[in-house]
Amino acid sequence: MVFAVICAGGIGSRMGNAEKPKQYLNVGGKPIILHTIEKFVVNEEFEKIIVLVPESWISYTKDIINKHLQGIEKVEVMAGGSDRNSTIMNAINYIEEKFTLDDDTIIVTHDAVRPFVTHRIIMDNIEAAVKVGACDTVIPATDTIVESLDGEKISSIPDRSKVYQGQTPQSFRAKRLKELYSSLTDEEKAILTDAAKIYLLKGEAVHLVRGEVFNIKITYPYDLTVAETLINTDRE
Ligand code: CTP
Repeated sequence: MVFAVICAGGIGSRMGNAEKPKQYLNVGGKPIILHTIEKFVVNEEFEKIIVLVPESWISYTKDIINKHLQGIEKVEVMAGGSDRNSTIMNAINYIEEKFTLDDDTIIVTHDAVRPFVTHRIIMDNIEAAVKVGACDTVIPATDTIVESLDGEKISSIPDRSKVYQGQTPQSFRAKRLKELYSSLTDEEKAILTDAAKIYLLKGEAVHLVRGEVFNIKITYPYDLTVAETLINTDRE
């Protein structure tokens, strides 16, 4: 079984909008989170689309989904966790409770604030997770990436042809992800912001899936302007 896990448990502090988390802001006349959910609802591969939001936004989220979307019997809204990985674990625990968690249980985890994900990216994720167990969506880095360990001087400049920018979805065999996550110490859990990094820390492979430059994450007010333009552009 394949499940979509839409991570919308954050508050969007970098957006600086105190009224509502950024996933509820409008782009193209509709909340960002609805554009994202739609991309998964229309895909028949998914058993359920699990949407994880801040606890106090659950009923609001259900309201807007009921009002604007078709095919909502496949959508389940629940509370996210204190960080992104705990949010994903809440979804896995739900799957374990209501369905079964075995080696064939695949989760496609996706940022609610990346509404421009495509059908091709989602299908490539499912294929890679089924075949190899874990994958991450990436695009080749266009800027030279500079590493600085102290924030003052350059420590290293990796060869640009070997550096990528991580996007989402990231997709996994859910049972294995839970096992690996459970084996981390609390300190490791606290510093790991990225689910794919759990695999790296445990020495397991994560395969690359080709993303798209336009599969942007809406993070800052500037990104809203870009998203508004993209929504009116034919991209595929
Ligand atoms: N997210 C989540 N659960 C958390 C934290 C984040 O599901 N506890 C989600 C966000 O809602 C977002 C995605 O993970 O869709 C990517 O995270 P980010 O862009 O960092 O979102 P925020 O944490 O909301 O933003 P900020 O860091 O600016 O507060």
